[in-house]
Amino acid sequence: MKINNIELFETIISRTSKTVAAEVNGEIAFSPSGASAGTHEASSFVPENMEDLESELKDKLEGEEFNQEDFDTALKEYDGSETFDSIGSVGIALSLAFKMASGYEKNNVFPYPLGNAIGGGEHGGNTAIQEFLILPVEAETFLEAVEINSKIYRELQDRYASKIMGMNDEGALVTRMDDEETLEKLHKVANEYGARIGLDMAANELWNGEKYVYPEMGMELSPKEQLKFVQKIIDEYDLYYVEDPFHEDDYSNHKKLTVETDCLIVGDDLFVTNEKRLERGVEQGSCNSLIVKPNQVGTVTGTYETVEKAFEKDYLPVVSHRSGETCDTSISRMALEKEIPIIKAGIADIRISKLNKLMLEWQKMEKSGKDPKMAELPYL
Ligand code: PGA
Ligand code: ZN
Repeated sequence: MKINNIELFETIISRTSKTVAAEVNGEIAFSPSGASAGTHEASSFVPENMEDLESELKDKLEGEEFNQEDFDTALKEYDGSETFDSIGSVGIALSLAFKMASGYEKNNVFPYPLGNAIGGGEHGGNTAIQEFLILPVEAETFLEAVEINSKIYRELQDRYASKIMGMNDEGALVTRMDDEETLEKLHKVANEYGARIGLDMAANELWNGEKYVYPEMGMELSPKEQLKFVQKIIDEYDLYYVEDPFHEDDYSNHKKLTVETDCLIVGDDLFVTNEKRLERGVEQGSCNSLIVKPNQVGTVTGTYETVEKAFEKDYLPVVSHRSGETCDTSISRMALEKEIPIIKAGIADIRISKLNKLMLEWQKMEKSGKDPKMAELPYL
């Protein structure tokens, strides 16, 4: 594709802090922003000299022909690093805008929406664990799947009204309950709707260098005790999904948990959508699933290389929003293009833009006789 026009804009995310939007040939994409970012992620910041950057990038790129890979390479060359240490979030915004301008393929396999129902940790809330998630595994259509998540969310609001204080950064409910009580209540409600539950433990944020600390429950666990605790709650609450149960450099305990359970053990801060880190996980047998966040690796090319490696090695990819979001729908489009079986995109607030995109596509396909269907999930 020939680049006719490139523009950069300063915009905001759902937490109201600044982010970058980029336009390529009339198509716009936004960079999201994380709060519990892993240390191995690509750089993410809004550069101060956006006007100078824009004019230099225009000079360098406009009028030239690129495919996605060459474009992403040119961005990295301009930056001078693999991790966008100079241009920060401009890198992913431009890469996503280029992809948007060149077009996404639409396959007819839809992801299951993994929704953050109750939250805590760095995103705000009373629990040490960051996300208490629901997955509507029995849904037969994407619309039904979204409806089940919405019903569970509203049911929690009704049934536990006196314990609910509001919403956090990801639109998840903030309650007065501690981690165990939350698991108990969510398990009960999710069961009634045929959904399974999961956790993003975001254990980096619990780890103090020696122990995993759960202040609300007065618990401080060694890595060995953490392993036992996670195994116990997997059994007790029939968890389908556990993300980042150990800190971002502990490949070994991730492996121990993976071999002893038959649910998804998911690396987010562990892999940071980075093919090299995933390869190390594959070699060691750490996890059987991974989070895919384009801005963790910085480019669409890097994101897709990691997704392809995951499919090749039988790791289930879960494409995901960040806690700081915009109405950008790139991850929904990626889910359809790459047939990614799960999308983590919240239940309420600004995150519905990603769900709505998929709801629209489902209905469009039905109308045009393209026979949309839900992805196949393992371990059910
Ligand atoms: P973040 O967290 O976007 O705040 O980094 C989301 C997650 O850990 O999955
Ligand atoms: Zn996570």
